[in-house]
Amino acid sequence: MSTLSINGYGDDLTINDVRIGDLSPQQHENIEKQKGGQNYHPLENVVISEVKDSSTLIARKPDPENIKAYIEEEVIDGLCSYSAVNQGQLNQIIVDAVVHHLTIEKLPTVPRSIRHKYMSAFLLAATAVTGMDRVVPKVAGVEAPELMFKLSRRWGYQVKGIPANEALVVAAKGNFHGRSMTAISMSDDPVARAEFGPFVPGIELVPFNDIDALTALFEEKGDRIVSYLVEPIQGEAGVIVPDEDYWPQVAALCKKHNILLAMDEVQTGFARTGAVFAHQLFDIKPDLMGCGKAAGGGILPVSFVAGRDDVIGLLTPGSEGSTFGGYPLGAVVGVFSIKAMIDLNLAEKAKIRGKQIMDRFAMMQADFPDKIKEIRGRGLLTAFEMRDEPQLDGHTVSLELLKQGVYAKETHHSTVRIAPALTISANQIDHIADAIYTVVKSL
Ligand SMILES: Cc1ncc(COP(=O)(O)O)c(C=O)c1O
Repeated sequence: MSTLSINGYGDDLTINDVRIGDLSPQQHENIEKQKGGQNYHPLENVVISEVKDSSTLIARKPDPENIKAYIEEEVIDGLCSYSAVNQGQLNQIIVDAVVHHLTIEKLPTVPRSIRHKYMSAFLLAATAVTGMDRVVPKVAGVEAPELMFKLSRRWGYQVKGIPANEALVVAAKGNFHGRSMTAISMSDDPVARAEFGPFVPGIELVPFNDIDALTALFEEKGDRIVSYLVEPIQGEAGVIVPDEDYWPQVAALCKKHNILLAMDEVQTGFARTGAVFAHQLFDIKPDLMGCGKAAGGGILPVSFVAGRDDVIGLLTPGSEGSTFGGYPLGAVVGVFSIKAMIDLNLAEKAKIRGKQIMDRFAMMQADFPDKIKEIRGRGLLTAFEMRDEPQLDGHTVSLELLKQGVYAKETHHSTVRIAPALTISANQIDHIADAIYTVVKSL
């Protein structure tokens, strides 16, 4: 091995002779391109350096005078790590809890094969906030739908009485459940699937928000179907909100056919949509629910599956688990992410600020009907879709917004999602709306 020296913190962090604070945006890009996997397409010419306030970041951009240097500007975070930072960057309630437990309480790291005292705290808080019987902690968001998939199959065999290996899980077209083999097996996105087959069998896709298609599938194959595993509002698809009566009808249909409703609330949960969980907007309760992202307050990856006693109760030792799922620090962060959401009344804030931005989107659509095709959203999970024309390009909008001090990212060609921290101020929402208006006007 060649010699390696690692010294300093922050900008002074130095790997051999490379000091991080000396790198220009172009040099960061070169390192990522040469030494990383090219599985993302980050915005060009910008590198995030640090937090400014709970909904803004400091971004480094090339110095117009000197390509090897950079300037720093504040940008509003309109993406929030795909809704992982609902509680705001470096939320003080969570940070204080982490620092206190690491330094004062001497928080241990142990796996679940030995009990630790913080697990009880996590289970009490997570069952209370979800209103569910049982909760199983996990780490990444994708692990929540993955576990719901496994749980529904086991329930299908043990409780519903489906013959071995014949279970079917139904998913919705346009879904996004993550990047694991099971998640991409449910996906119909060719980019996510290309050359990764063969896929997990036993999956049926239906169009989202089409009760007739679901009814027909349940009529035809209901005796083999274990669950409808689905997002309450499709996030990555571009914030697709179903009709008001869709979920009550789906819940009734699932009940009729003895099929579990397994909702992936990884993106929609934790107050993002103006309710603590999005299914509450539609007055229904799923049998299983997966949470992630803001379940760890943007500080640590924390996810979990919550659900009915008779489904989660089917897990047995060795059938499920991961070293860091529910370990002490994950449990503490999970508890205080819930506390921050409740104490800061984030669901109500999302509703109020969400209405503010949707009202502004509506004005923009009225002014530019030839450019804006549709505006969509609930709470602070919002998006505008532009008409399908070459110059109405979401990536161009993202780049132009950055110049106006707003970080947002397109989903698909012509849709831009805006999902800032739920702690965002009215003035900051106005700033985002003004910036979008200016950019759309210029296209
Ligand atoms: C609905 C949904 N499920 C699962 C995931 C996967 O989460 P992660 O990227 O943390 O694995 C995402 C991520 O965007 C998501 O939106």
